[in-house]
Amino acid sequence: SQWRLLCFIVCVTALLFSQSCPERLVGAEGRRTCPRSCKSDRDCGGKRQCLCDSECGLSCVVPGRTCPWPLPLNENSRASLLSPTPSFSSLLEVLCKPGFTLADGSDATVRRCQGDRQWSGDKPICTGGSECKNGTCQAVFSLCHVFLLFSCRADIVGRQENYCQFNQTWLYPHPNCKEMLCQPPEEVEQGYVVAVQKTEYEVGFDIHYLCKKNFLLDGPQKITCLSNGSWSAAPPHCRARCIIPAERSRVVIGGVKRWPFDVTDGLVPHGENVTFFCKHPQKQCSFTAAQTCFDGKLETPLCYLEPTWLQYKLFPHRLVSEIEVCEPGDVE
Ligand SMILES: *[C@@H]1O[C@H](CO)[C@@H](O)[C@H](O)[C@H]1NC(C)=O
Ligand SMILES: *[C@@H]1O[C@H](CO)[C@@H](O)[C@H](O)[C@H]1NC(C)=O
Ligand SMILES: *[C@@H]1O[C@H](CO)[C@@H](O)[C@H](O)[C@H]1NC(C)=O
Ligand SMILES: *[C@@H]1O[C@H](CO)[C@@H](O)[C@H](O)[C@H]1NC(C)=O
Repeated sequence: SQWRLLCFIVCVTALLFSQSCPERLVGAEGRRTCPRSCKSDRDCGGKRQCLCDSECGLSCVVPGRTCPWPLPLNENSRASLLSPTPSFSSLLEVLCKPGFTLADGSDATVRRCQGDRQWSGDKPICTGGSECKNGTCQAVFSLCHVFLLFSCRADIVGRQENYCQFNQTWLYPHPNCKEMLCQPPEEVEQGYVVAVQKTEYEVGFDIHYLCKKNFLLDGPQKITCLSNGSWSAAPPHCRARCIIPAERSRVVIGGVKRWPFDVTDGLVPHGENVTFFCKHPQKQCSFTAAQTCFDGKLETPLCYLEPTWLQYKLFPHRLVSEIEVCEPGDVE
């Protein structure tokens, strides 16, 4: 009869245990990684035990395995362990700082250490519950159930904090933010600012830039005053054209081989590449070297030698830019 009683106790315990843990929920695998399901420890190998892993039901887990801890610091919330260690089934409480709430409007949540060594649920994000846009502040949550703290980049007009009363109305009107203004933008050398001169510019104000004739705009053509009082971009530069530093050699500009005197004004725009012809040190052939015009500065490559007037006049066909181009193997 003792055996019977023992058997009865074991059976009842097993029954209670299996009832206290729900079956694995359909779709639980989609939300998280469920360990192997089991009915008893014998179904699991090694150090694994058959334990209840919430929506995964009875699963083979290593009870000593821990979930990530400590969690990265979050400026809007505080996390604390409700159990001595962050091991399987231990609980973690996430508490939003005053004035901050979770997406569902609550200010705290509890997460459980799962068999897959992850904390249950989505990462809780506490948000301010208040928002100041375009100068006016409002509560983000329609329900009036919290204490709100407002913050403005510029000065605040009104009370920074607000409280919900029993009758679901706010104690004070929500505050306003003084509008940010942008300081006059920098002048641009060789360019013009196309805007009314002011000491400060409102948010959304556009300033256009133009360059003087023969200068190329490098950067944004327009900048806008942002709501934080900064301009949307740094002002552009107006870049100068470059004199082609060769006279008696042809050069390649924009894929065309031409004499410098045939180029309008003998100038190339900022950013243009000019390819020069240099003579091979030993062989009677030429190779090319490119240079880029940058804001009025364009130098010949070190290998380039300007032909003399006599060479140019008497032997035009022997000029380096006119002789054969070296074979690829000839150039180091
Ligand atoms: C900001 O407020 C001004 C006037 O108060 C309005 O003209 C403008 O459309 C508002 N901008 C936004 C983004 O709500
Ligand atoms: C809500 O309660 C406050 C203070 O008790 C009161 O001044 C206010 O008139 C009430 N508002 C409404 C809409 O009942
Ligand atoms: C203003 O906002 C822009 C874009 O959001 C950002 O790049 C810039 O750093 C901000 N400026 C300041 C002073 O915060
Ligand atoms: C000049 O050469 C550079 C590098 O080879 C290239 O990135 C650039 O687009 C070229 N500029 C022009 C105007 O072709």
